[in-house]
Amino acid sequence: MQNSLELKITDLSRGGAGVARTPEGEVIFVPLTLPGDRVRVQIVDKQKRYSQAELLEVIEASPERVDPRCSVFGRCGGCQWQHIPYPLQWKTKTAGVEHALRRVSLTSPKRPEEFPADLTWGYRNRIQLRGLRTDLGFYARRSHDLVPIASCPVARPEINKAIDSVRTEGQELPQQYKVEVEVLPDGSVAKSWNSRHANLGFRQVHDQQNGKLVNWIRENLTAGRPLLDLFGGNGNLSLELASQMTRIDCVDMSTPPVRPESTPENFHFHRSGVLPWLKKKQRSTEAVEISAIVDPPREGLAENTGEILASLKQLGVTEVIAVGCDPDSWARDLSHWTKKGWKLQKIALFDFFPQTPHIESVALLRL
Ligand SMILES: C[S@@+](CC[C@H](N)C(=O)[O-])C[C@H]1O[C@@H](n2cnc3c(N)ncnc32)[C@H](O)[C@@H]1O
Repeated sequence: MQNSLELKITDLSRGGAGVARTPEGEVIFVPLTLPGDRVRVQIVDKQKRYSQAELLEVIEASPERVDPRCSVFGRCGGCQWQHIPYPLQWKTKTAGVEHALRRVSLTSPKRPEEFPADLTWGYRNRIQLRGLRTDLGFYARRSHDLVPIASCPVARPEINKAIDSVRTEGQELPQQYKVEVEVLPDGSVAKSWNSRHANLGFRQVHDQQNGKLVNWIRENLTAGRPLLDLFGGNGNLSLELASQMTRIDCVDMSTPPVRPESTPENFHFHRSGVLPWLKKKQRSTEAVEISAIVDPPREGLAENTGEILASLKQLGVTEVIAVGCDPDSWARDLSHWTKKGWKLQKIALFDFFPQTPHIESVALLRL
């Protein structure tokens, strides 16, 4: 085959692809491979310092390779790592965070606390499917082609039980549709058709791992203070802390439209952008120290970093838990915090997405 190349995979990148080096020193990324594989590939994108290739054939499988559980693994755009044993997945994710920290000249003051997942299959409490007539499935890797599925091994069993009924209902729709299927906290399954957002707004997909993160935050925040939960969504990370904090302000562009009845009295939702809300907030006249959770979207605090950090300092925030789902933007934000005098106390790493390269990183900072 034209352009085909035989390679030995020697490394696993934190982006998910296996890595090979040619005798000339060129780096080639090959998705769906792992160290120890001997593969035939085709270069699909050649850059100055590296190339991207597509796997054509595994000539000799790495002894570590495992059988993917899903019949559409490799075609579906959802999981990238079902062929990799879980301990190697986790080792690669944590090494990736260390690498992201090194790139901004930071090191963890102590060994990061590690929270790999106990439940590595059947964990997702929500999935987003696409459908057209009798087909229901996910988008293919790097395309909008539909890959039909009968079940999804990373989704919770309740979701898999509902798939046939989703397909039957969707079949009635005249055009291609999107449907979000979600296991609600009471165990029932909700379907939301063609809506931009999930039923409950943003929600972490792995309930057990989310519980570990909430516990870690509970153990590490200084109790008895006011708390700002910035980018707080529906209060996922802070609602359970209401009894240990004097007051909680949860700020997010999409807080629940109606204050849920069960909301503790000292918990206040603010539907707003974080920066405008911080700028409007007056510093308390009492000399009180405040804690904050900062959990921005993938891009991190980005261009608002300087103003957000300055506002927090001005308001008397002296303790921050910084959460990030992209190691690079999270590490970049941490380097801004430390340059402004914040001390990195400790780091914890959580796996919310087994079978994919994603990792959730958390840092405790004090001023
Ligand atoms: C990673 S999620 C975290 C949500 C929440 N902390 C949780 O654990 O469920 C990021 C959140 O940031 C919100 N968001 C994005 N940009 C924002 C902005 N400029 N101001 C306020 N909220 C924003 C989104 O609505 C989303 O809920």
